[in-house]
Amino acid sequence: MNDRATTIESARARIAAALDVESLQALEREFLGKDGAVARALAALPTLPPAERKDAGQAANRLKQEVLAALEARRSVLAESSLEAERRAEGFDATLPAPPVERGGLHPIVQVTRELEDLFVSMGYQVLDGPEVELDLYNFEKLNIPPDHPARDTQDTFYVAASDSGPGTGSAKLVLRTHTSPVQVRAMERLTPPFRAIVPGKVFRQEEVDASHEHTFHQMEGLVIDKGISVGHLVHAMRTLLRGIFGRELDVRLRPGYFPFVEPGFELDARCPFCESGCSVCKGTTWVELLPCGLVHPNVLRQGGLDPEIWGGFAFGLGLSRLVMLRFGIDDVRHLLSGDLRFLEQF
Ligand code: PHE
Repeated sequence: MNDRATTIESARARIAAALDVESLQALEREFLGKDGAVARALAALPTLPPAERKDAGQAANRLKQEVLAALEARRSVLAESSLEAERRAEGFDATLPAPPVERGGLHPIVQVTRELEDLFVSMGYQVLDGPEVELDLYNFEKLNIPPDHPARDTQDTFYVAASDSGPGTGSAKLVLRTHTSPVQVRAMERLTPPFRAIVPGKVFRQEEVDASHEHTFHQMEGLVIDKGISVGHLVHAMRTLLRGIFGRELDVRLRPGYFPFVEPGFELDARCPFCESGCSVCKGTTWVELLPCGLVHPNVLRQGGLDPEIWGGFAFGLGLSRLVMLRFGIDDVRHLLSGDLRFLEQF
């Protein structure tokens, strides 16, 4: 009796002291295995005097139950603590609050581009794209910009080095497009007139960067080709554009402007959408410069494969970056492409 009691006690003590799962398995074999303590005690029963067999049998069963319970208890303690150790090693603390989820959003330029695309698509325009690395031929020559025009000055244009572009010379030279207008000719070459198109996109100029000049900015070209197009059509389209952008009618005025690919060419101003008697946006004049535009020059129509005796058109070059700044009251163009989250998170 005493012996067996000691066996239960010592079994419990040894199991409780086991440091890992492997030692628990060894103990389980020692007590409960085929040749284990319990099996041996049961096997010895027939050799005992009949009077002792009952007690001995019960004692062996109790040992078995106690060992099973002790093993089970120790296993769950070990499992728990190894999980804990792992968590601590990973620096995981289940009680810390979860980090906040960062929400993404559309860049203000993308927001305004999509709005304008919707507006123009609703007026029957299609949205076109063109290469940002463009042939001199399309960026200048086909747009009636002669070889000695100041717009070609290397001060303004990023030329792609000849070593990168092969033996490009003359009109085969590659440039980073300085405006979205080259897509005018590409559109005429590809589409069957009459058609209307807008071309939102990035343009590049080698400029001294400051609060109102960036080397990379966004424009949206507009082009309508049809028969009998007049300045009246152009003005009407621009009024509609303004209504779409500012939500109400705004007076417009045309001033003469020179661009080799339009004739006549204009600067279109709109009544300041922010004041009635002069403010910082319109610099006290009540007019804001909105966009350059004009009727497509006959030479450009010819370059696009269209007969200027039959077809005419108007074109405009909306400064998307500037419009976005006006719209959201952004005072420095450099914010737009800075990638600065403190700026972007405001939209
Ligand atoms: N492409 C001209 C520029 O970037 C703008 C423009 C477009 C002017 C269409 C007239 C017509 O300066």
